[in-house]
This record gives sequence, structure tokens and C-alpha cells, in this order.
Amino acid sequence: MPGSDNQDDDRRRAADKLFAQNWQFFRGVPSLEFLPPADRPEIAFAGRSNVGKSSLINALLNRKSLARTSNTPGRTQELNFFLTETADFYLVDMPGYGFAKAPKTKVDAWTDLIKDYLRGRPTLRRVYVLIDARHGIKPVDETIFALLDEAAAIYQIVLTKIDKIKPPAVAHVIAQTEAALKPHAAAFPEIIATSSEKNLGLDDLRLSVFEAIV
Ligand code: GTP
Ligand code: MG
Repeated sequence: MPGSDNQDDDRRRAADKLFAQNWQFFRGVPSLEFLPPADRPEIAFAGRSNVGKSSLINALLNRKSLARTSNTPGRTQELNFFLTETADFYLVDMPGYGFAKAPKTKVDAWTDLIKDYLRGRPTLRRVYVLIDARHGIKPVDETIFALLDEAAAIYQIVLTKIDKIKPPAVAHVIAQTEAALKPHAAAFPEIIATSSEKNLGLDDLRLSVFEAIV
């Protein structure tokens, strides 16, 4: 229908405009007492260490290195808050869960921070849980899904690094992930397949974020 196509174009344009703004790093939060007040909508990017959270944020914002990335799992060690020019909402880059090249006590502290934040942030509109398209959902991801289900936090799965596998393999992992999500009430049914490296799926993700916060 032409009408709905126009509406879709308008929403995509508005989403592009939001991401074309000059985004700034706002604050690194090493523990909950440093969280900014919950006074505006926010969305967060979660996922196993090294899945590509920080890279995806840079790709979404068209910035090379606003969020710091690394080959070594465990690069992001705090909840990093980014803010739009117009300061109307936060985007949060999270430390990874699961394996990280860091002492166990540190990893345990990040995991507690991640869980406490995901459970208790009233202004969190949607959590994007990133899954490496090569590896699919792992048991540690399931523990995060369970936590989000229990907290009734809305979450959506984003596959990352799809440039590393062939299109039929992408289709296969999408189908597998959809099936695995069926029992999870709080999960969004639509899965977004992305590559930060090749700029794939970014417009769909921008639109999703836009719709989550407006
Ligand atoms: P932590 O902060 O350690 O939890 O990691 P992260 O999830 O933020 O991952 P990060 O963005 O630092 O990326 C980890 C590695 O994956 C880096 O070497 C990136 O260059 C690489 N990477 C990220 N996204 C992509 C992608 O879409 N394609 C490919 N080929 N590599 C990617
Ligand atoms: Mg990171």
C-alpha cells in the first residue's frame, strides 16, 4: 500500500536523523551508584564478550571509535553512556558477559553490574542482546534471556558479524534463533542480522531503536 510505504519512509528518515546527530560519550559507570538519574529513555546493547557491541554502536552512529573496541574480549569494562546532541535519550554500551581476559573477581563484578542494571532500570526501553552469527545462542545467553524475562524487560536479538558466514548460513542461524526464542515471552520475535564491518542491517536496527524510544 502506498500509504504505509510513505509512513515507513518517514519513520526511516526520522531514525536516520536521530543517528546522524553528533553523539557524545556521557559517562562510564563502574557501579550502580554512578548511574545517571533515570530521567530519559535509554536502550542498551548486551552480549557475550567480543560479540561486537562497541563496534555496532560505532557503526550505528557512523563513528570510527566513539566506543572503544578490541580483539581482546573484555575491552568494555563499564556501562558506557552515550547521549544525543539534544540530550533526549541514552544509548548504553555494556561490558560483555561470559569469557573475558580479565581476573575472575573483575569479571564477577561486571556480571553483577550487568545483571543489576538490566533488572532494575525503569527507563530501559529495550535491550538488544547481540549474538555472534557464527556461534548462535550459548548457555550464558540463555541465563541473560531468563533474567530479562523475569524482569519483564523487552529485548530483541541482533546477530553480529554476518559478513563472516555465507547467506544460507545466516538464514539458518536466523531460523534457529527464532525457534529458540519462542518460549521467551519478553523477546521481540523479529531478529536483526547485522555486520558492522560491511554496514549490513544497520538501517533496520536504527529504525528499531527509533521505534523503541519514541
Ligand atoms: P567487549 O567490550 O570486550 O565485550 O567486546 P564487544 O562486544 O564490544 O566487541 P568489539 O566491538 O570490541 O569487537 C570485538 C572484535 O570483533 C573486534 O576485533 C572487531 O573488529 C570485531 N568485529 C566487530 N563487529 C564485526 C563485524 O561485523 N564483522 C567482523 N568481521 N568483525 C567484527
Ligand atoms: Mg565493548
